[in-house]
Amino acid sequence: MPRTKNHIVGAFEMRFGEAPACVVRAPGRVNLIGEHTDYNDGFVLPIAIDRAVWIALRPRPERQVDVFSLDYETGLRFDLDQLEKAGDGWGEYVKGVAWALQDAGHALSGWEGVVAGDVPRGAGLSSSAALTLAVARAFAATGGLPWHPTEMARLGQRVENEWIGVRCGIMDQMIVAHGRPGAALLIDCRTLAAETAPLPEATAVAVLDTGTRRGLVDSAYNERRRQCEEAARFFGVRALRDVDSTTFEKKSDALNETTRRRARHVVTENARTLAAAEALRAGDALAFGVLMNTSHASLRDDFEVSSRALDAIAEIARKHPACYGARMTGAGFGGCGVALVQARQASAFAETVTEGYRARTALEPQVYLCRPSRGVQLLKSDHGQPVVKTKADG
Ligand code: GLA
Repeated sequence: MPRTKNHIVGAFEMRFGEAPACVVRAPGRVNLIGEHTDYNDGFVLPIAIDRAVWIALRPRPERQVDVFSLDYETGLRFDLDQLEKAGDGWGEYVKGVAWALQDAGHALSGWEGVVAGDVPRGAGLSSSAALTLAVARAFAATGGLPWHPTEMARLGQRVENEWIGVRCGIMDQMIVAHGRPGAALLIDCRTLAAETAPLPEATAVAVLDTGTRRGLVDSAYNERRRQCEEAARFFGVRALRDVDSTTFEKKSDALNETTRRRARHVVTENARTLAAAEALRAGDALAFGVLMNTSHASLRDDFEVSSRALDAIAEIARKHPACYGARMTGAGFGGCGVALVQARQASAFAETVTEGYRARTALEPQVYLCRPSRGVQLLKSDHGQPVVKTKADG
């Protein structure tokens, strides 16, 4: 069920008998192009979507956090002075953020609240980055910490890498922290500079959930990272970002075939992502769509992270006359595709793709039409309660 601010405020009031002191919202994301480039210091072009994780909360006097998940119907209580890992559920993201913030020298205060969201889980839409950044925002609000989006994105990546144990790049946390309404962000994953790139007029972004969930993704993801690192060593550079296509063509013959194809994907995908940002600046949806299609082929054939379901949904999407381009998105092996479509025809597109995919695969897809939305936010309560403020909230 879509979650909204009213829903989370209502749930808080039921539980605590008063309005929350504040509400935070952190969106999921979908990447339009620039896949498996972030950990190669390369370029990505994601949007934050209008599905999000919400937390309604109030400060607590003790150094304790007490939070109830409406989605999992379980609670979590822990002491900020006794952080211990326990399993791998949603609560680990909450504790992991507390750990990373304290480790970075921030003094935290306790809080209690409820959390819920409508970002599909395990679908490649970054529900975990959304949760991580929402929790960071909650701690920043109650602890009076300054809010620096890029610093918090780095911290969120550290939670994934070191507390959860997933070796992801920085794309998800950056777009969740920096998302802009109406626009994609071209992010340079080496410098973390981010530039807005508004979507062409009269277009819409459709997320195409294949209804399959990624298996084996961690081991395959880590293997791809190793192969990219090996290729960077071969070229004598810090990361594949530093290899252009001329150098690649000149030197890559001496690489083993698999590593060569992995590297070719990254080198060409970086070039495609920059060209795609250029196409957005020119308002050229047609050119953008062609780049999306080429990106999919490269992920399927060279990087080998697509799946039959992802190939099928992208193919079916492309056949619709309103579709400019379609590709898999996120880590791969299952989850979602993404398409750029004509806004006027977007509902018809969604219907046709749903039917076509269902008929071809006997799986149940979901097509979400998404508006690019704002990154993580601290929202005031509508109910007259004072809002805990930080300097950066203005
Ligand atoms: C996952 C990771 C990101 C990125 C993508 C692939 O979503 O979390 O850092 O590497 O895969 O582009």
